[in-house]
Amino acid sequence: MKRIQDATSVNETFILLKERLRNTVPEAELYYKAELAYEINRIKKEKNAVILGHNYMEPALYHSIPDHVGDSLGLSRISAESRADRIVFCGVRFMAETAKILNPDRMVLLPARVAGCSLAASITAEDVRNLKARYPGVPVVTYINTYADVKAETDVCCTSSNAVDIVNKLDEDVVICLPDEFLARNVARETGKKVIMKSDGLNGNGKEDSMIVWDGKCEVHEKFTVSDIESVRRQFPDTVVMAHPECPPEVVEASDYSGSTTAMVDFVASSESKRFLLLTECSMSDNIQAENPDKEMLGLCSVRCPHMNEITLEDTLVCLQEDKYQIEIEESIRLKAKKSLDRMLEMS
Ligand code: 13P
Ligand code: SF4
Repeated sequence: MKRIQDATSVNETFILLKERLRNTVPEAELYYKAELAYEINRIKKEKNAVILGHNYMEPALYHSIPDHVGDSLGLSRISAESRADRIVFCGVRFMAETAKILNPDRMVLLPARVAGCSLAASITAEDVRNLKARYPGVPVVTYINTYADVKAETDVCCTSSNAVDIVNKLDEDVVICLPDEFLARNVARETGKKVIMKSDGLNGNGKEDSMIVWDGKCEVHEKFTVSDIESVRRQFPDTVVMAHPECPPEVVEASDYSGSTTAMVDFVASSESKRFLLLTECSMSDNIQAENPDKEMLGLCSVRCPHMNEITLEDTLVCLQEDKYQIEIEESIRLKAKKSLDRMLEMS
């Protein structure tokens, strides 16, 4: 099937979008979306830009303009290899910052002025410096959902898809794992490590296998509960439940599968099962549904990521037309942050 990105007119963009999204987006909206998408794709080629789209983008955007879609790890890898003059990041700020850290000579653009993340907002570089002073010599593993100055204080970054692997590969018995308490608890369960909260009193380098964790939370995933799962299972007993590792540990434990956003996309595509509950940002259910019309995706859509939802086709068009908003990172911070990302890319 022809890629929507390669359509040669608004009409062709509309026809291809309709084929893909007829059960997901009302047709009345699709011609307008096709006009925006066609213009974005035209300017993208003119300006030698590449568009990277996170799996949480709304269906019309996700299916029409990105050259690559994926999770945080996949998009970091792609941005590190990009040769385009401009990288437009349809995702949140920490993702665009990651692309800039890896590509200082390229213009990296975020279509929204803010597009934050509650995890990235939960910790500062000074918080990390204080932890390092309290636990000297203990390696710091930091989730990619953080800003550049926090990454600059970090030994190695991780994402939802490689956190267990990275923690397992470190030789040390004790690690500092920041800033997502639930991701850290989920990693602790899989690695057999004990969790020490920031307020607990471990002195110096403990000898036991443990992880010193922060109390940051994802404002979306923290809201899912075991009773959500039980209620859906009562109504549809054949449902396969998938939970992102940013969900509370009891929710991950009550689920059938947990993985990064791309791991969940792949899981549905390769599964024989027919009905799935996705405990993550709801747009991803729609995106998977559009690609797997023979499966039924259930999502709890009252819980949305307001930051990811700031990225629209309208603003992406303005972003490309006006080269805004450009990501800038102070060089001394960028160089230090890059080390922690390079180490992650080498280790995973
Ligand atoms: P992934 O790396 O799994 O795509 O997760 C990013 C994110 O922000 C999930 O909320
Ligand atoms: Fe951040 Fe949560 Fe939104 Fe992901 S879903 S960008 S972790 S607030």
